[in-house]
Amino acid sequence: MSPSSSSFSYCFHLLMLILPLYNSLYFQVPRFDSNTNDVVFIGDAVPSFGAVNFNSLVYCCRVGQVIYKQPVPLWDSNSRKLSDFTTHFTFVIDTQNFVPYGHGIAFFLAPVGFTSPLNSAAGFLGLFNSTTSDNPSQGPIVSVEFDSISNQEWDPPVEHVGINRNSLSSVTYVDWNVSLYNKQTANCWISYNSSTNNLSVFWSYERNPNFQGNSSLSYRINLKEVLPAWVTVGITASTGQFMEKHTLQYWDFNSSLDVRHEAKTLAKFQDIMYQILLQAVRGIPHSWLNEIELDETMAPIPCILLILGSMRPK
Ligand SMILES: *[C@@H]1O[C@H](CO)[C@@H](O)[C@H](O)[C@H]1NC(C)=O
Ligand SMILES: *[C@@H]1O[C@H](CO)[C@@H](O)[C@H](O)[C@H]1NC(C)=O
Ligand SMILES: *[C@@H]1O[C@H](CO)[C@@H](O)[C@H](O)[C@H]1NC(C)=O
Ligand SMILES: *[C@@H]1O[C@H](CO)[C@@H](O)[C@H](O)[C@H]1NC(C)=O
Ligand SMILES: *[C@@H]1O[C@H](CO)[C@@H](O)[C@H](O)[C@H]1NC(C)=O
Ligand SMILES: *[C@@H]1O[C@H](CO)[C@@H](O)[C@H](O)[C@H]1NC(C)=O
Repeated sequence: MSPSSSSFSYCFHLLMLILPLYNSLYFQVPRFDSNTNDVVFIGDAVPSFGAVNFNSLVYCCRVGQVIYKQPVPLWDSNSRKLSDFTTHFTFVIDTQNFVPYGHGIAFFLAPVGFTSPLNSAAGFLGLFNSTTSDNPSQGPIVSVEFDSISNQEWDPPVEHVGINRNSLSSVTYVDWNVSLYNKQTANCWISYNSSTNNLSVFWSYERNPNFQGNSSLSYRINLKEVLPAWVTVGITASTGQFMEKHTLQYWDFNSSLDVRHEAKTLAKFQDIMYQILLQAVRGIPHSWLNEIELDETMAPIPCILLILGSMRPK
């Protein structure tokens, strides 16, 4: 075996030790009850018979939310790598013969620590209020809404499924009519492809739908430019003067990027090592470097140089 191929295999094994630092994040909540540890119930939201009941139907203007307890890494501020993700949830809207009914349910991504603002019921869907609608005070919000009533101030004139970016107005939407699917179970998949920046939404009222990467609505958005590196993900629903019953039966989320604490520490260590090495190499005359013969025992040196070099801070 030549010295260079042995150092290559050494490098390869070292790299294999480093690469698995990026693992996918996955959570699944097949059943919601008071012992469900992965999520927090906010506002009116309560677990009930294994599902989340988002709002009381006794009083007007309610907000309920379910939020995943942990911050979710969306992109890595060191490598600037953006995550792919897919979330799947199952919900039911029961209009309970209210005419009209409202206001809808939405999946959202917001800065870590996001809490629904005061007076955010009805058309604000628990995400905005009249002072924050144009300029979210807690930072950017990207959402996918199933909006069951048209608020003429900002909505299209129909009930719709929309993708929203920092606004109550959808950047893109398609018509959707809750009364056609009253009390039926909706399966929704929202996927983000980080290489194409495609945020796509697919939903179905079929009994056992199969998600094949299809989409019914999509929008190109570079989430790295819109949202912070770490986000809170959640599902929100609201009622106003008009009401309906919103329940969530199932929720999973899968993200390809999980920046662990080790990765951060490692990055800092690499930064320091790189600076030390840079200083050291600068001090060595080039003629010396050319005379160094590689053998088995020297293998770690080019490897460490290679790794440090390729991972130096941008
Ligand atoms: C909107 O929410 C913010 C944050 O909760 C709050 O400070 C503000 O007073 C609210 N605006 C209205 C009109 O309630
Ligand atoms: C929604 O469907 C109902 C029938 O269930 C129909 O009466 C109504 O006009 C539809 N709304 C829209 C906006 O298409
Ligand atoms: C993202 O889209 C590209 C181009 O269509 C495709 O090759 C790739 O497999 C997609 N990634 C995911 C995670 O679906
Ligand atoms: C997804 O699209 C394919 C191709 O258009 C279609 O055959 C399939 O039935 C769709 N799947 C669902 C669940 O709608
Ligand atoms: C996003 O991806 C979906 C599913 O692959 C595709 O149908 C849609 O055309 C894409 N949209 C954009 C804006 O690229
Ligand atoms: C999560 O997504 C990754 C790709 O992004 C995929 O390889 C993996 O199988 C998914 N895991 C689950 C449990 O769906």
